Amino acid sequence: MLDTFLNGEYYKSDEARVSIEDRGFLFGDGIYEVVRIYNGHYFELGQHLARLERSARKTFLTLPYELSRIETICHELLQKSGIANGKLYMQITRGSAPRTHEFPLEAAPTILLKVSEVNENQLRKNKIGVTALTLPDERWNHCDIKSLNLLPNVLAKQQARSQGYYEAIFVHGQEITEGASSNVFVVLDHKLTTAPESNRILLGITRNVVIELAAEAGIPVEERFVTLEELPTASELFITSTVDEITPVLSIDGHTLNGAVAGEITGQMQTLFQQKLSMSCR
Ligand code: PDD
Repeated sequence: MLDTFLNGEYYKSDEARVSIEDRGFLFGDGIYEVVRIYNGHYFELGQHLARLERSARKTFLTLPYELSRIETICHELLQKSGIANGKLYMQITRGSAPRTHEFPLEAAPTILLKVSEVNENQLRKNKIGVTALTLPDERWNHCDIKSLNLLPNVLAKQQARSQGYYEAIFVHGQEITEGASSNVFVVLDHKLTTAPESNRILLGITRNVVIELAAEAGIPVEERFVTLEELPTASELFITSTVDEITPVLSIDGHTLNGAVAGEITGQMQTLFQQKLSMSCR
């Protein structure tokens, strides 16, 4: 099965090769996107490509092709792979060159696209609810860039998982920013509250969709940082991401929310999200 595109060619994933001098490997010098595939269609591919372009601009990385060509490759790869439900991983690095910190003069960017299936059983289970742990946000000041530099996220996620929690939720000072690989929504006073667009969070595509669906359904949304102090007054909390979609968090730091069942607004958002999916990916 051809499930991989690398620098102009289609491959079976185990046959694709990159150089040991690739700057993605040596420095994490690159950017990425993860896009979901439902029923043989990409979900919100346009928004993901637009964010890829923003990440490229902010890291002075020249995309190897026009965005429209990348979009065509995404569709060609999906067709070749025969995958109906899964995800696309897309990564662009500054290319391969002898190791120097500064940008090499002559290096063509490396572009990798890979489609794969997702563990739907696990995801279905998560929809009932998961647990989370708060941890200090020790990341840099450009969390809006979807960069390959994920070490703080990896360490936080590992700490959460090793202690039996599903997600790590970052706290900067007193402010909840986002999850290790998700955005966070808190229901306070019947209002959906989520961190504002800033350098402190990745502007999640799922977050955008949730905000749009809530607005259409007349559910008030407030974009501001929720503080740790406010958490005990939260009636519901959920995380969003391309992979997790809308996943209820039933307890945080061992403190139970809504009697450990997904709340009403969370359930409503999950239903609206499923409706949107089935409309846009049929
Ligand atoms: N991560 N915040 C962070 C730090 C993330 O890594 C992600 C997604 C999100 C949610 O963004 P979106 O809704 O666009 O997926 C927020 C992907 C799924 C990953 O790294 O695998």
